[in-house]
Order: sequence, then C-alpha cells, then structure tokens
Amino acid sequence: MKNIAIFGSGSGSNAEKILEYFSSCTHAKVALIASNNRSSFILQRAKKHGIDSFVFSKKQLFNFSEFNDKLLEKKIDFIVLAGFLLKIPKKLVAFYKNRIINIHPSLLPKYGGKGMFGMNVHKAIIENNEPYSGITIHLVNEFYDQGKILFQEKCNVSTAETAESLSKKISILEHQFFAPTILNYIKKCQS
Ligand code: GAR
Repeated sequence: MKNIAIFGSGSGSNAEKILEYFSSCTHAKVALIASNNRSSFILQRAKKHGIDSFVFSKKQLFNFSEFNDKLLEKKIDFIVLAGFLLKIPKKLVAFYKNRIINIHPSLLPKYGGKGMFGMNVHKAIIENNEPYSGITIHLVNEFYDQGKILFQEKCNVSTAETAESLSKKISILEHQFFAPTILNYIKKCQS
C-alpha cells in the first residue's frame, strides 16, 4: 500500500474526489493533507475523512529536513498537488523525484508558469479567444509546470464562454480524470 500526501491551498474540490476515490483502493491511500493556508477548506475535508493534516508556512516548506521529517513520519511515497500555489523547493523535488504529481487547468505548455493558476488561467484563455482549453496532469520538476505530462484532456471554449463557465467545465474534467491518473501512475511505478 502506497501513501499519498495531498498539498492544497484552496477549496480542495480535487482533494475531495481523490479522497473518495482512494478510500476503497487497495494500492494506495491518502495518508496526509497539508496546506500553507490555515483557512483552506481542504483542512475541513481532511477532518471529515479522518485524515491527518497540517498547516505550514512558506518558511517551513523551505526548511527541508524539518518538512521532510513530517513526510517521512507518515511514510509518504507520492505527493499530489491539488490546487497548491507555492513552488515546491528544489530539495523536495529531488527527494521525491518523479513522485510529485500536479494538476494544471490548461493544456500545458500553454498558459503555464509563474502567476498562472486558477481563474488567472481561465481569464487569459477567454481574453485570447482560444478555441480550446483543458487540463494537464504532470510530474513536478524544478521548473513551474514543465515536468513530464502524464495526461491531458481538451474541452471547447464557446464564443459565449466566460472565465467562470470555463472554470466549471475544467473542474468537471479534473474531478473525472485526476484520481484515476494518479492511480495509473502509481501502479506503473510499481511494475
Ligand atoms: C484546480 O483547477 C487546479 O487545476 C488549479 O487550482 C484549482 C484548485 O481547485 N491549480 C493550478 O492552477 C496550479 N497552477 P480545488 O482547490 O477546488 O481542487
């Protein structure tokens, strides 16, 4: 059984789907939820599911040995970033090489990089009259949104689309594909 830690900064709707999906999985389970935001709803979701959680500051995240001790204590094998807005420090990326998975609300490499998160991405897509958007699930390396792509799914952007309506379309895709893609990847690593 592999242990997953979910890192999130916001509402945690993806975390919720992952928690539900892995609750009956025999290959992996969510063992920890961590957030840099004390008021993130993801912490309520952890409580509801009886999963340990902790809140950390940016400074604590960059204190590698202390931070990593927490992960080792929980025997974390994979880290999943579900709406996590801080950059992962290089040392942590190196320690968890090919074991950190992120979801991004666009078809990377388009609309990725610093400052491109959540509604900022959807607004930029609408402003540029893009005919398509989508989701990307990828491994995390030391550069923002540039790790190996594991999965992408496209959706149409209609002429009447708003950033809000696009955000809803993207959430549906994320909720459908994120958890199964994580499991497929974990299985692939084991084989
Ligand atoms: C998701 O749409 C995710 O793709 C995005 O934040 C949202 C979190 O929603 N992540 C990024 O933009 C990362 N660059 P959630 O908290 O409801 O899961």
